[in-house]
This record gives sequence, C-alpha cells and structure tokens, in this order.
Amino acid sequence: MRQSLIFASFVALAAAFPQKKAKAPKQTAQQQAAQVPQGISTATDGSMILDNTVMVNGLPIRYKISAPAAQFMAASGVPGAAATSPNGTMGVNVLLHGDGGQSFFDMPNQAVQANTMGVVLLAPNENLFWGGGSGLQRTDGVAHAQAVNDFVKNEMPKVVASNSSAVVFTGVSGGSLLMSGFFIPAQMQNYPNSAVELNCGGMPPQVAFQNAAQVIPQTQIHFQSTQQELTLLQGQGAIPDAVVAYEKLGTDNGLSTAQINALQTVDNSPTGGHCAFDGQGFVSGVQTMLTSYSNVMQGGNGTVAGLGAPSSGQVLTGVVGNENLKFTAAPAGNKRDAESMVNMRWVTDAGFGGDQ
Ligand SMILES: *[C@@H]1O[C@H](CO)[C@@H](O)[C@H](O)[C@H]1NC(C)=O
Ligand SMILES: *[C@@H]1O[C@H](CO)[C@@H](O)[C@H](O)[C@H]1NC(C)=O
Ligand SMILES: *[C@@H]1O[C@H](CO)[C@@H](O)[C@H](O)[C@H]1NC(C)=O
Repeated sequence: MRQSLIFASFVALAAAFPQKKAKAPKQTAQQQAAQVPQGISTATDGSMILDNTVMVNGLPIRYKISAPAAQFMAASGVPGAAATSPNGTMGVNVLLHGDGGQSFFDMPNQAVQANTMGVVLLAPNENLFWGGGSGLQRTDGVAHAQAVNDFVKNEMPKVVASNSSAVVFTGVSGGSLLMSGFFIPAQMQNYPNSAVELNCGGMPPQVAFQNAAQVIPQTQIHFQSTQQELTLLQGQGAIPDAVVAYEKLGTDNGLSTAQINALQTVDNSPTGGHCAFDGQGFVSGVQTMLTSYSNVMQGGNGTVAGLGAPSSGQVLTGVVGNENLKFTAAPAGNKRDAESMVNMRWVTDAGFGGDQ
C-alpha cells in the first residue's frame, strides 16, 4: 500500500517533468565540504577533535583541533573540557592542506606527538586552495596567511589551551606554497623558535620578508619531496628555487654553512609521485611524514619510518650543496598543469558529490 503510494507520486513527478533528467548543478569544492558535518569526534589516539567554523577577517575559517579533552576550554562544548586559561602546556602543529582539502579531512596530525596537539584549517576558497588562484599563482596569499595567523593568535585560544611559544607548522602541496610564499615571510615573526615542514610544495617568498634577521636564525625549515614530483613543482619558481631563496636568506642574515644546514634541510629520496612519500600514494604518503613529524621537526633523530625506497629514511640533509634536487620523469599521466595538484578523494569517501 505504502509502496504503491510512493510509486504513484513518483510517476506523477516524472510526468510533471517529462524532459528533465535530474542533474544537480555542480557544486564547488567548498559547497561540498560544507556538507561534511562539523561537530565533536574521537581521534585515533583517543584525543577529542572539535570541528567548527569561525569568521576571521571576513573569511570563514573551518578548523579541526585534536587534543586531549581536558585541554579544551570549558566554553568549547567538548565533553571533559577542563581548561580555565588559554595558557596551556601543549604545543600545536598547524597543518595547511593541499589543493582540494584532502589533508583537512584526513587530519594526519591528529595524534598527540611530543606533547603537541594537531590543528588543521580549511582554505576559505571555493576550490579549497590555500592562497587562492592556482598553480604557483596564489592571488589571495596575503589575506590567507593573515587569516591563519589571526586564527592561531585570536580564535584558537578561545577553545583550547596551548603553549603559544611552541607552535609549529606543516604544509602539504598547495599549503606548502602558502607557507613558503606568504606565511613564513609575513607571519613567522609572530612565532619565535618555530619550525615548518614543507611537504610536496614550496616557492620563494612572494612578499616582503618581515624581520628576517630575527626569523631566519630561529626557524627550522624542512623541504620534503619525491623523485617523481609534479613537473610544475620541480620547475622554475617552485621547490628548488624555494630551497635556494631560503638558503640565501640564511647567508644574507649572517648564518654560517653549518648553521644553515642545521636549520634548513631537504630530501626527495623516495621514488614516488606527488606527496607519495611512502612510495604508495598521496594520503598514506602524507600520513607517513606526519607520523614521524617530531622526529624530523622537533629535535628527533630525523628518521621517517616507512619512507619509500630507496630512501634510508634519514631526511635531515642540509640544503647547502644539495639545492639542485634530482628528479626523475614524472609518471605517465602526471600532467604538467596545476590541475594535477588537486586531491579531493574525501568527496567519494564521504559518499556524496559524485561529480569530482
Ligand atoms: C596568558 O599569558 C599571557 C602572556 O604570555 C598573559 O598576558 C596573560 O595574562 C595570560 N592569561 C592568563 C589567563 O593567564
Ligand atoms: C612552552 O614552550 C617553550 C618552548 O618549547 C618552553 O620553553 C616552555 O617551557 C613552555 N611553557 C610551558 C608552560 O610549558
Ligand atoms: C629514531 O627515533 C625513533 C623514535 O624516537 C625510533 O623509533 C627510531 O628507532 C630511531 N631511529 C634511529 C635510526 O635511531
């Protein structure tokens, strides 16, 4: 009875729109991301993940913070939240995803490591590109870098307690372009003794460098790529030029070769395509780098477990003398254009969208 009623109304509907093949208008990546529910969930290590959105300088900044429940401020609404002051003891690793947002949804930095909690931010851009634009042209880089800083300084303390002197950063692909091109030169002056892991992406500073004499001697930078990196990122204005530009900032600010090599390191030893640091794929490759983050960026022995062959796993090679990275031909089908940087596997994982 019920079924035939539904069937009858279906027939009526079909009759009302005889020509129309139901085809929803194509949604932007940002609109699709908005369909992934926010809220509170549990991280792989039992931490709590708070997923929410806040306006920063007129830009919607969706964030996820993963920390032990007790570190959240009572006002956050996280069950077990117990912090009464934003001045906590845990460090923070802020990660910026690549084009299309994949690492925001994966959150490869969600497990606490070296007393450091994880934070991921979703690019306020319809394509989910950090810095907007595309490829090496990041037309909204200045505003996005400012928004990242203002989120960390002004909004994050309202929901979680942390040690503001222990904030480190991670870029993935397009997120590394924003970090190296805009955030480090414009905003790193606000983060003393910090560190930035630039995975599968990098470009020389695109804006005036603020307080380089203070920032460069106390900021650790690691460039991580693979042998079969995207042609766009191997080429002019990308990773090798970023290595040279940051090394020159070291020299210009009076650092010795030994000091530069201690602060600035580079590796692209694994065979593998864009971000496939484990020699397998993008998602597992990025996770591999983040699982060993503290080993590389926070005073560890520099070893990344599970790095793809033929890498030894030791990635902390000083940049001086190693600027001229050796790449092999990118795999067939690895297009030259910026489109090949986009990874939106999360759309199919979430079970909707369908047209990506
Ligand atoms: C947190 O620390 C800052 C300086 O580091 C200080 O100005 C502020 O008063 C502290 N806030 C609380 C609630 O303790
Ligand atoms: C905050 O981090 C800095 C740098 O690692 C450290 O020296 C300091 O002791 C930490 N403060 C607290 C309250 O944990
Ligand atoms: C490096 O440190 C990690 C953990 O801190 C340890 O598991 C690993 O065995 C060490 N590797 C080497 C080569 O010392």
